[in-house]
Parts: sequence; C-alpha cells; structure tokens
Amino acid sequence: MADRDFVHVLGVESSCDEMACAVVRHGREILASVVQDQVDVHRPYGGVVPELASRDHVRAVSSVVDQALAESGVALADLDGIAVTAGPGLVGSLLVGLSFGKALAYRLGIPVVGVHHLAGHLLSAELARADLEPPYLGLVVSGGHTALYRVGRDGTEILGETRDDAVGEAFDKVAVLLGLDFPGGPAVAKAAAHGDPEAIAFPRPMLKHPGLDFSYSGLKTAVAIEIEALGGSEAVSEKQVADFAASFEAAATDVLVRRARKALRQEGLGVVAVVGGVAANERLRSEMARMGSRDGFEVVFPPPELCTDNAAMIAAAGARLLARGERGALDLNAFSRAPI
Ligand code: KG4
Ligand code: ZN
Repeated sequence: MADRDFVHVLGVESSCDEMACAVVRHGREILASVVQDQVDVHRPYGGVVPELASRDHVRAVSSVVDQALAESGVALADLDGIAVTAGPGLVGSLLVGLSFGKALAYRLGIPVVGVHHLAGHLLSAELARADLEPPYLGLVVSGGHTALYRVGRDGTEILGETRDDAVGEAFDKVAVLLGLDFPGGPAVAKAAAHGDPEAIAFPRPMLKHPGLDFSYSGLKTAVAIEIEALGGSEAVSEKQVADFAASFEAAATDVLVRRARKALRQEGLGVVAVVGGVAANERLRSEMARMGSRDGFEVVFPPPELCTDNAAMIAAAGARLLARGERGALDLNAFSRAPI
C-alpha cells in the first residue's frame, strides 16, 4: 500500500478553538477548506476556555465536515483517506476531531492517520508554494509555539524554541493588558497600525544569548510595568494604546526577524518559511521580506488563511503520511505535547 496515491484526503483539525475540515487532492490542491471559529464563545472570558471549546466542537464537527464535502464536490465514497490532528493542543478539543475522523474512516473502510499540528503548519508553506522544496528554515509562530526548524528531505530538526511564552500568547496577553478585544493578536495589530513603533523602547529578549532560543514572558512583563507606571490601563489614552501596541509589535517581530537571519546563516540555508497564526501579522511579513531582500534570503509566507489554524495543512500532511504507508489504529489517541 505504501506506493498508493491518496487522491482525495479529508482533513480534520480541532486542536484549539477552531473546528476545521478540508478536502485536498493529491496532497497539494485545496478543493475546500472550512474553518469555524469560536470567537463569540470565548470573548466574554478574554481567552480560550478549554471546556467550552470541546463542547462547541461537538456541536460543530458534523456540519463543518458536511460543508467541506459539499464545497469540494467530492462524495464520501470517493475519499481515499482521513487525516486528523492528534496533537499537540487541548486534549478535550483534539478528541472531538480525532473521534469523528476515526469513526468516519471506520464507516467508509478507508485508512486514517494522526497528524502533528506543527508538521501541518510547516507544510502550509509547501501547500502555498508548490515549488518549495526542502531543505529550508521553518519558523513556526503561533499561540502555543515559537520555534525554528531545519526542514530537510529526511526529517525535521528543531534548532531553537521559546523558553516560556509563545509569541502569539504574548500578543494575546498584551491585548488583555491594553483592554483590547478578543482575539488579541489581530486586535494588537489593528491598534498598532495607528501607533508609533518607536514610542517605547521595549527589550528585544534573548538576542544577546548564544543559540536560537526565544523568550517572550519578559517582554509581556515590560509592557505591564510601563502601563502600571502610567496609572493602569484605564488611565491610558487611545493614542497611548496605539503606541504601546506598535512598540510591542515592533519588539516582538524584530526578535523573530533577527533570529531567523541568524539561523539561515548558521545552517547555510537560503529560504525561510514563516507559518502559524502570527505569520498573518502584517509587520512581521513586511519586516521579514525586507530582511530577505537586504540579506539575500527568500522569504515564504502562506496566505493568512493558511497561516492560522486550518485543516488543509492537516489533509496535505496526512496525504504524505498515508502515501508513505503510515496508518493510525482505532485506538489512536490525542496528545497535549510532543516533538514533531
Ligand atoms: O496557529 P494559530 O491559529 O493557533 C495555534 O496553533 O496557536 O495561532 C493563533 C495565534 C494567536 O495567539 C493569535 O493572537 C495570533 O496567532 N495571531 C496574530 C495575528 N493573527 C493571529 N498575532 C499577531 N498578528 C496577527 N495579525
Ligand atoms: Zn496552530
């Protein structure tokens, strides 16, 4: 079976607060990609509440899968395999997509395979740019992860990662400190557009450290201290909020750009693919592109809808695993943490 071509693979992703389903052809062509968020469920709490996320996934999963199938024009009987995110993520959320995917595969008599969420994010770059081939540098920037990988032909090797908060988590926490709306990352970016990125000189953590690790909790604390010094978030004007957001965004993205350049040089690589939710950030996209053209590196960004959580990347990664002969058994379980 290892050489069989998996023409139509259905992907299911429910690792956090998005229920997503996609149908991908030949592991490259996206026929349908449906993402249903839970912004209204979590907004009152200013962050994702795991228990509520799993319950909402139970309500959403079957209609999201139906919608993806309908949009793709592919009948259930024409599916060749199912790929589902097995982790890392919120276990209760993961189990909804995983159980649904396994049950559907069992009912259709087709194979199912578990996909690592970050392997999916990394592959979104190849999904967006069909001619992108390893080796390249992969920078994963999301709500749960900030890490640099050497993506090779024979596997993926981690080069550095955050020692505390993820960069997306820092965006989300700074949004709360500034009294901005949920979800935080896009809200900080929107406020930053009207602010001065040089108004407050926030630290660029870890840049003087050897190696390629990151740290974001100190930057978040620096923002909290500056807001406190002004008398708390209620005392901060709209203009000051914009300046805080812009200055934080500048510091957070500057570290990513400089770390990526260091890793490219160290590894002798010519291409960096930036993936994960924070890769939707406009400042990161433009600063990374500027570094690329100045220092002679190619920078690949998937379109924003492939940067944030989606099931097309899971279906594409799963299609490759299935073609290699990998199979998940019906006792395939969810995991909250594990390296790629
Ligand atoms: O990859 P993703 O959708 O989910 C995880 O796997 O974590 O990433 C979500 C993260 C959140 O922290 C969100 O605030 C952040 O990506 N994010 C952004 C932007 N869009 C999403 N951060 C900064 N600027 C954005 N435009
Ligand atoms: Zn993600």
